[in-house]
Amino acid sequence: MRLLVSKFNLGDWAARYICDKINKFKPTESKPFVLGLPTGDTPLDMYKQLIKLNQQKILSFKNVVTFNMDEYVGLAEDHPMSYHYYMQNNFFKHIDINPKNINILNGNSTYLEYECKVFEEKIAFYGGINLIVGGVGDDGHIAFNEPSSSLNSITRVKTLNYSTVLANSRFFDNNPDKTPNIALTMGIKTILDSDEVLILAKGINKSIALSNAIEGSVSSMCPITALQLHRNSAIICDEYAAYELKLKTIRYFENLKDDYDALENQLAKMGSTL
Ligand code: GLP
Repeated sequence: MRLLVSKFNLGDWAARYICDKINKFKPTESKPFVLGLPTGDTPLDMYKQLIKLNQQKILSFKNVVTFNMDEYVGLAEDHPMSYHYYMQNNFFKHIDINPKNINILNGNSTYLEYECKVFEEKIAFYGGINLIVGGVGDDGHIAFNEPSSSLNSITRVKTLNYSTVLANSRFFDNNPDKTPNIALTMGIKTILDSDEVLILAKGINKSIALSNAIEGSVSSMCPITALQLHRNSAIICDEYAAYELKLKTIRYFENLKDDYDALENQLAKMGSTL
């Protein structure tokens, strides 16, 4: 696993990184790039930057297939807090993606388990996910894999714990009773099976999850620690999210970050928005 405490805006960083990956892959209709995507506050800047790159014709999504990580159960797709709505409005409607290539779990399906099974089959049909970008919850959850989720889990129905419901209640009139407490989510194994995993973490609330992720032991009680089992995973964070890390850890990763240097230099030249 790699760690980069970036001095640049995480959205700029992630968007440039994704852009380079897709362009180097040279996707075609028969061999699309498969991208896993998150929701939440953290990736909003990334979506804005990706839209810009698309509008500037530096990046096309014509041959990109997306799979979103999760969705609430029982929220209408046009509910402003559904992940369908979030993705449509913050990203998909602004880019040149083919709607057929967008995959978001249907939390209103009558057959939720079947919905999850078909989602996994579709990922397999495309030969797996090339790059999955995610966020992390304060308690270390990834997608909606709450603490105690099996590290071997695949896409499934998941009951959310109270701390996640409470954190998400900020989007539902600050009322936990109005906040959905069941979701569909990719499993931890689904995420680990991707060729590459990139987690973005911003703000002091994520600092304990991050120190567990990097300095702690692998444990289902902190799902993000599962990234330690992945051969090509990275956490990109700001200095606040890195707050709980030992200086020694930060220095160690600083010395390793040479393959990210080119991107950091590129952002410096462009005058990143931070
Ligand atoms: C929710 C989502 C996660 C996301 C997390 C953190 O629980 N299901 O996928 O990573 O929130 O979101 P934020 O970036 O808003 O802190």
